[in-house]
Amino acid sequence: MSTDARTGPAPNPTGPLSTIDYDERIPNNVDLAGDRRLQRALEGWQPKFLDWWRQLGPALPTKDVYLRTAIAVGRDGWAHFAHVPMEEYRWGIFLAERDPERTVAFGKHKGEPAWQEVPGEHRADLMRLIVVQGDTEPASVEQQRILGDTAPSIYDLRNLFQVNVEEGRHLWAMVYLLHAYFGREGREEAEQLLRRNSGDLDSPRILGAFNEATTDWLQFFMFTYFTDRDGKYQLGTLKESAFDPLARTCEFMLKEEAHHMFVGTTGVQRTVERTAAVMREHGTADTLPHGAIPLAVIQRYLNFQFSVSMDLFGSEQSTNAGNYFTSGLKGRWMERRRKDDHVLLEETREMRYVEDGEIRTRTVPMLSALNLDLRDEYVADCANGVKRWNQALEDAGLEERLVLPHEGFNRKVGVYAGHHVSPTGEVLDEETWAARVDEWLPGAEDRAAVAALMVPEYEYGKFASWIAPPKTGINDQPVEFDYVHLAEEGLA
Ligand SMILES: [Fe+2]
Ligand SMILES: [Fe+2]
Repeated sequence: MSTDARTGPAPNPTGPLSTIDYDERIPNNVDLAGDRRLQRALEGWQPKFLDWWRQLGPALPTKDVYLRTAIAVGRDGWAHFAHVPMEEYRWGIFLAERDPERTVAFGKHKGEPAWQEVPGEHRADLMRLIVVQGDTEPASVEQQRILGDTAPSIYDLRNLFQVNVEEGRHLWAMVYLLHAYFGREGREEAEQLLRRNSGDLDSPRILGAFNEATTDWLQFFMFTYFTDRDGKYQLGTLKESAFDPLARTCEFMLKEEAHHMFVGTTGVQRTVERTAAVMREHGTADTLPHGAIPLAVIQRYLNFQFSVSMDLFGSEQSTNAGNYFTSGLKGRWMERRRKDDHVLLEETREMRYVEDGEIRTRTVPMLSALNLDLRDEYVADCANGVKRWNQALEDAGLEERLVLPHEGFNRKVGVYAGHHVSPTGEVLDEETWAARVDEWLPGAEDRAAVAALMVPEYEYGKFASWIAPPKTGINDQPVEFDYVHLAEEGLA
């Protein structure tokens, strides 16, 4: 597979244009009005969602925000931009257009028509996959709840809120599937998606990275770069699912996700640009006194977010992942472009693991290593952003570079769990690790230093000291556009 195919943007939804009816209480393109029972059930869930949004959504009070709203699911002209009060955002249910000819592309059902209903034997597994995906969406909104208080600009504030409302919509996307296809159990799971909360000791979110607090904007940018990108790859596998409504749901979600990763890529880039400019101007790596985040701190934030995001792919070897593939529930990234038999019974691959204090390689059945296959695609994609950020350093005439740490660094899941691996891939003993970990992961001091720079800048067109302005605004608007109207008098 060419690098292009592997690391390109999120795949575009295909198919004809289908307009979404905004006169409905729940905007949708799934003919909700034609299924009164389902409509009533979702209308019963809607006020609970809105309660959750008010309690755990963005904390900064605003009058309105310049947001995009999906208006169609086709290739072009799918979104509309306008100033809207956030709690009046039209969260809805949008699936990519159905292809009546679609067949299953892989596994033992390869070539059979895609499923329009959930087969009884896969009901539990499919519901679990949907719940785990659905759980991450509101979790990230909760994690980012207080970031508005320290936004480096109105432009960035708007991007944060755009990401938040769309993660809210992705929750809707998963809740629709639970309500429409999984009966009473599905409705109960939909309730639980609002009851679990990020970082809650009694009922935390399902996956570890979604219980870490997003403490500041550098972490937010790293999160949207590394963790939303994990989301992109997970959605990419579900987009291949034999269960057609899930595939079509994820296809459309991917379209929205592209912007989230844009926020991450450009956010880190602008941070690096600012740091590079200060380093050059003052001839020092200690940029803090000049209001910029030191490159070493940026590297430590990168190390942290990359390693916790790598854990989201699960164990390298997984019987579940193989079974999901064989039974058609989850495909590989870009399944249809892979040049093999799409069944994989005979295939093998190499896998690294730790033994006797060193990293070794062994050959394993491909079907057992599909989490690793997906993670490799992800890592290749992650490397692209790092290249872009390094270009900013090079353009500033600096020698320093950012790097992705070794895949085994700081891992809690899979073959590296329980071992200590340095960012350059040496297996270390406990003592050496403990002595050096502060060089590699952000400590309290780093977080405090970054937090001290996180002063809000709410004047249109102005930016906090630690970040460069973007080259262009959103939807062809100028950078100094009034993207957000804050609620408080006297403020923008
Ligand atoms: Fe999402
Ligand atoms: Fe996202």
